Amino acid sequence: MTTGKPRVLATRHFPADVEARLAANFDALLNPDDRIYDGPALVKAAAGFDGIMCAAGDALTAATIAALPSSVRIIATFSVGYEHVDVAAAARRGIAVSNTPDVLTDATADITLLCLLGAARRAYEGMTMLQNHGWTGWTPTQLMGVHVTGKRLGILGMGRIGQAVADRARAFRMQIHYSNRTRLPAALEKGAVFHPDADAMLPHCDFLSINAPMTPATRKWVNAERIARLPQGAVVVNTARGGVVDDEALIAALKSGRLAAAGLDVFDGEPRIHAGYYGLPNAFLLPHMGSATVETRNAMGFRALDNLEAFLLRSESPPDLVKTS
Ligand code: DGY
Repeated sequence: MTTGKPRVLATRHFPADVEARLAANFDALLNPDDRIYDGPALVKAAAGFDGIMCAAGDALTAATIAALPSSVRIIATFSVGYEHVDVAAAARRGIAVSNTPDVLTDATADITLLCLLGAARRAYEGMTMLQNHGWTGWTPTQLMGVHVTGKRLGILGMGRIGQAVADRARAFRMQIHYSNRTRLPAALEKGAVFHPDADAMLPHCDFLSINAPMTPATRKWVNAERIARLPQGAVVVNTARGGVVDDEALIAALKSGRLAAAGLDVFDGEPRIHAGYYGLPNAFLLPHMGSATVETRNAMGFRALDNLEAFLLRSESPPDLVKTS
């Protein structure tokens, strides 16, 4: 039965309040089992749909987008990152792409500090010791980690999330260094040291936090050469995209002790993470949960819906239209 409303295909199972609004405003096909569509399955399922609401992890490659039915006019991703959608291929088909900026800034910055502290303070080893009934009591030398207060934090990518990370780190009296395509105005820089050349920032990073998007320029940016420029015993944190890190190089540096620790929420090729991370005591690892709070996931869904509604119900440009460069 057709409702006369625009049709939207949800590629994933979204939070209940998000799906309720999606179903109220559109003729929506939900995915309660959270079945993953591969490219051909998505192309087939999208027949007759006006919009697709997808998420990080759905690979909307150039080939998939080229094969989408002509009914599809918008792809709204439930994520701020959109490297999983080939935006240029969408533009060639006249398909609008939107994302969900702003709403996950705080949650992602929070998880960055969790990764930073968890790595520095050897949280994984402590938890493992307890869970394995291995704690025999407090000792003066047990699980001594890296002190955070007063240390230098280098942030690669000083956008919204990078700035929110800096704000939190200032509460730990960390000295902020950053590298970004453009220097921030003084009011946003708040005394942080700007490095126009990211490589030149590395020797100043007791901690390095990756908050830059995944682009051809940032792919495997944290490589052996750059790790060698960090101070001995530095800590690397990545809550942006796994592909920014060369896993082989990072794992080797964690094993050799060149780096004290790493705190990672994202992985190249996730969820199939590099096997070398398993069992590494100085790797504090989380399963891409930076935005995973009820408030944030609802806000991401509502933001995706704002875009779908503007475009499909009111024939307006989606407020978070992703522009092709
Ligand atoms: C995003 O929105 O890009 C996040 O990585 C998903 O939490």
